[in-house]
Amino acid sequence: MGEKIKIEGGVALRGHVRAEGAKNACLPVMAASLLCEGEVTLCDVPPLQDVLSMCQVLECLGARVAYDPAEKKMAIDARGLCGVEAPYPLIRKMRASFLVIGPLLARMGKARVSLPGGCAIGIRPIDLHLKGLRALGAQVLIGHGFIETTADRLRGERVYLDFPSVGATENIMMAAALADGVTVIENAAEEPEVVDLARFINAMGGRVAGAGTDTIRIYGVPGLSPAVHTVIPDRIEAGTYMVAAAITGGQVTVDNVIPTHLVPLIAKLKETGCDVLEEESSIHIRRSGHLRAVDLKTLPYPGFPTDLQSQMMALLTLARGTSVITETVFENRFRHVDELRRMGAQIKIEGHTAVVTGKERLYGAPVKASDLRAGAALVLAGLAAAGSTEVSCVHHIDRGYHRLTEKLASLGAAIKREE
Ligand code: UD1
Repeated sequence: MGEKIKIEGGVALRGHVRAEGAKNACLPVMAASLLCEGEVTLCDVPPLQDVLSMCQVLECLGARVAYDPAEKKMAIDARGLCGVEAPYPLIRKMRASFLVIGPLLARMGKARVSLPGGCAIGIRPIDLHLKGLRALGAQVLIGHGFIETTADRLRGERVYLDFPSVGATENIMMAAALADGVTVIENAAEEPEVVDLARFINAMGGRVAGAGTDTIRIYGVPGLSPAVHTVIPDRIEAGTYMVAAAITGGQVTVDNVIPTHLVPLIAKLKETGCDVLEEESSIHIRRSGHLRAVDLKTLPYPGFPTDLQSQMMALLTLARGTSVITETVFENRFRHVDELRRMGAQIKIEGHTAVVTGKERLYGAPVKASDLRAGAALVLAGLAAAGSTEVSCVHHIDRGYHRLTEKLASLGAAIKREE
C-alpha cells in the first residue's frame, strides 16, 4: 500500500540544491496569523503535507486561506475567525496544530483543542504549554481527549519553563502578544524558528524582545495588523542534503541557507572529515577521504538538533571507528535503528544512547519509514548502500520534504518514487 522510494545506491552526489522555507518556522507563523485582524502574506511557504494540514485547521476555525504552492505564497485572513475548536482528525495528523491554542485564546477568549498526535517519537507531553497559559490567567480543563481553555482576559506574567520547549515557548508567546502587560518566558527555547515567529509578531505590530536568548519579554498590545513575512530557510532540510553529500562522498552546494543556524552540524561534519565552506546564503560540502567516527549529543538549540540525529546516525554507520550518539530531547527517537540494522549497520542501543560501530558497507534492503526524520535517514542510507533500497511509508517523508526524490535525482542520485 502507498508509494515507495526506490534507490540504487553508490552514486556520489554533485551539484546545487535549494532548501525550502522551514516547515517548523512556517507552521507557528501560520498559527500566529490568527492573531491578526486583517490579511497577512507569507512568502517561501514550503509545499508540504503538514502545511496543507495547518491550512485545514485554520479554515475550520473560520480563517480564509489562499495558498499558491507554485509561488510558495500564502494569504491568511482571520478577520472572520469564528470557531474555537480544532477537531481530532486534524490535530491527530500533526502535533503542531496544537499551536493554535495560544492565538485562539488570545483572540477569542476560548479554545477547545484535541490532544495532539504527530510523529510517534515519544510521549511529547503538553504540560509546559498549559503551565504557561495558566500563568497568563487561563482556566484549563482536560477531558474526553480535549483540552478546553478559557480566559476573559489574559494578563502578562513570569513563566519559567522546566525545559526549553519550542512549542510551549511559541504558544505562550502568541497568547501573550495580545495580553495585558508584560510576559517574561524564562528558560525559553532559543531555536531560530522561535526567533522567526517573534519577527513575524513584531512585523504585525507586536512587541517581543529577547527571542533567540533564554529570556523572552512580550509586551502585550491591543491588536495586530497585516504584515508580509518571509519564512526562514529550513535548516533541517538543508542539513539532510549536506549529510547526503557526505554519505555518498560527493560535492554539493546547498543554497538558501543561513549558515549560523547549522553551526552544530557543520562542526560535526568537519570532525568526520568533510570539507565545509560557508558562504553568505549557501554551504558547500565535499568529502573525498574516509569518514571518521564522532560522538554527538542532541540538545536544545544551539546544541545539535534532534531532527538531524537519525541522518547523522546513517552517516556514522559508515565511519571508521565507534560513534556514541546520545538523544536527550525525545525518548523513542531511535526508530530508524532496526531498519538501518537490516541494511547491515552495527548499532547497539542502551537507553538514550546508540553505539554505532562503523562498517565498510551498507547493503540495500526493503525498509520502512517510521516517522519523518527516520524516513530521511533511510533514504540517505540507501544512497550510500550497495544495491537497491526500497523505502516504504513515504507519507511520513512527505510531511517535511518537498520533492525529496526529484531534488536528490537532480544531484545525480538513482532514485525514483513508485506506486
Ligand atoms: C519542535 C519541532 C520538532 C523538533 C522539536 C525539538 C515543530 C513543529 N516541531 O517540536 O521538529 O524535533 O521542536 O527541536 O517545530 N516537552 C514537555 N512538556 C511540554 C512540551 C514539551 O515535557 O509541554 C518535552 C517533550 O516531550 C520533548 C521536549 O520537551 O521531550 C522537546 O519538545 P519541544 O521542544 O516542545 O518540541 P516540539 O515543539 O513539539
